[in-house]
Amino acid sequence: MKFFIDTANLSQIKEAQDLGVLDGVTTNPSLMAKEGIRGQANIEKLYTDICNIVEGDVSAEVISTDLAGMIKEGEKLAALHPRIVVKVPMIKDGVKAIRYFTNKGIRTNCTLVFSPGQAILAAKAGAAYVSPFIGRLDDNSVDGIELIKQIVHIYKNYNFRTQVLAASIRHSVHIVRCAEAGADVVTCPLSAIMDLLKHPLTDIGLAKFLADHNK
Ligand code: E4P
Repeated sequence: MKFFIDTANLSQIKEAQDLGVLDGVTTNPSLMAKEGIRGQANIEKLYTDICNIVEGDVSAEVISTDLAGMIKEGEKLAALHPRIVVKVPMIKDGVKAIRYFTNKGIRTNCTLVFSPGQAILAAKAGAAYVSPFIGRLDDNSVDGIELIKQIVHIYKNYNFRTQVLAASIRHSVHIVRCAEAGADVVTCPLSAIMDLLKHPLTDIGLAKFLADHNK
């Protein structure tokens, strides 16, 4: 399972990269706003900076909701770097845009996916990644992990090549459950990745080993 970090914060991206487990990055307009990154030029510069830090795919989201606008934006974003993946929302024109980009050899990440039917449409249109938002489903009393299991199962049935990118991860247990469910990728906040390190018995065991060594 690949680990992506879900942030527009360069120092967090560097920290995850330094850990040696980072396979890519996802961003979205809310994450950009959180970091105070405004204006197309600044946003595009950030994408380029991220591509220079991380070796894997970097999802860059379009803001337009009409086909022509998504195509214009997506082509510009894809031209920034070969590892940019154009992130397109799961709406009618989004599906058309994914098909357009697929035919042109531009990879896409279909975002805001909340149902197996939406995931089937994204795969049929040729999306490289589909992003089911598990945390937001959990917030609405629906088990997000069940959706990951359903999509993984459906994609296996038909050998769809679209990778299941579990998004809206809230904590380290989500990461482990996504691995059990067979997700191809998880995109997580840095805190969820770092929390995987934690176990009190590791800390107690290490303290004992060091104390015994010093005897
Ligand atoms: C996915 O690519 C999104 O950026 C993301 O994971 C959204 O998660 P949230 O529900 O924490 O905003």
